[in-house]
Amino acid sequence: MRQLLDYAAEHQFAIPAFNVSNMEQVQAIMQAADAVDSPVILQGSAGSRSYAGEPFLRHLILAAIEQYPHLPVVMHQDHGAEPAVCARSIQSGFSSVMMDGSLMSDMKTPSSFDYNVDVTRRVVEMAHACGVSVEGELGCLGSLETGMMGEEDGHGSDDKLDHSQLLTDPDEAVEFIRQTHVDALAVAIGTSHGAYKFSKPPTADVLAISHLQKLQQRLPNTHFVMHGSSSVPQDWLQTINNYGGDIAQTYGVPVDEIVSGIKFGVRKVNIDTDLRMATTGAIRQYLGQPEHASDFDPRKFYKAATTAMQAICQSRYEAFGSAGHA
Ligand code: G3H
Ligand code: 13P
Ligand code: NA
Ligand code: ZN
Repeated sequence: MRQLLDYAAEHQFAIPAFNVSNMEQVQAIMQAADAVDSPVILQGSAGSRSYAGEPFLRHLILAAIEQYPHLPVVMHQDHGAEPAVCARSIQSGFSSVMMDGSLMSDMKTPSSFDYNVDVTRRVVEMAHACGVSVEGELGCLGSLETGMMGEEDGHGSDDKLDHSQLLTDPDEAVEFIRQTHVDALAVAIGTSHGAYKFSKPPTADVLAISHLQKLQQRLPNTHFVMHGSSSVPQDWLQTINNYGGDIAQTYGVPVDEIVSGIKFGVRKVNIDTDLRMATTGAIRQYLGQPEHASDFDPRKFYKAATTAMQAICQSRYEAFGSAGHA
C-alpha cells in the first residue's frame, strides 16, 4: 500500500479501494483494472470476513493475484476495531491494515485522541515490523448536512453534533502523524458510510473538499483517504425502484468532487455502496424482465451484476487517474 500511494502521489492520482465479500465483486474489480491497466486495492471488512470466512476471502484475493500477475494488488483490511484484529489480518497475509481508532472497539462510541494515538501506534509498530502498511483515521465520519453521525457510529437522528467535530482538526492531524507514523490517514470532510449521505446534491457547506486543502498545507507529504466515497448512482437507484425496490431519494459524493480532492492529497478512495447498488439493480432488473421469467440459472444474473459493477470500477479508475499506471 505505501509503495502504491507514494507512486500515486508522485503521479498525482488516487486509487479506488473497493470492498469485497464475494467472487463476483473481485472479478468485476479485476476485469475493470485489466481493461484500463490500473493498480488495485481490494479491501475486506469485519463484515466481509464473517460473510465469506477468512480462508475464502484470502483465497479470493490470492486468486485475483494469480489470474492477473501483471497488476499490482493491495489486500487491505478495512476498519480494524482493535489491534488484535489487525494482528490477525497480518497473519492472514494482508499487505495493509486499517486501525480505526477514531471509535472505541465497539465501533460506535467516538474515542479520545490519546486512545486513538495509542492503539494506532501499537499497530504501526507491529505492522511495519512485518512490512505491512497502516491506515489510521482521525475525525468522525458523519453528515454535516444533518449534524448527525453516519452509519459508522450508529447514533440516532436526535444526536446533534457540532459541525467542527465532523472535520479532522489540522493541529491534531499533525500531532497524530508525528506520533503514529501511519502510511495513510483517513480524514473526515463530511462524508458518511452507506447510501444515505446527503438529501440533496451536496454543496461545499456539507461536503468540505476545501478542508482537504487546509490539511494538505499542514501535511504536504501525507496520503489522505476518503471514506464514504460512493457516488450513489442515480441510474441504479432508479432501476432498483423501477423493479420493485424501495430506496428513498438520496445523494452521494459526486465523482468530480473526489477528483478535486485528489489535487489536495487524496490517494485512496473507499467505495462499497456503489457496487452494492449496481449489484442489486442489475439482479432486480434481470429477474424482473418478462423475457427472463423462466430463467433459473443464477450465473445469468450474477453475470449481469458483474457487468454492472465492472462499468463502475472502470469509470472510477479512469476518473481518479489510476488507469494506465499498473
Ligand atoms: O466501512 C464500511 C464498509 O462499507 C463495509 O461494510 O461492514 O457491511 O462489510 P460492512
Ligand atoms: P461507501 O459506503 O460510501 O461506499 O463507503 C465505503 C467505505 O468507506 C468503506 O470503508
Ligand atoms: Na480502510
Ligand atoms: Zn470506511
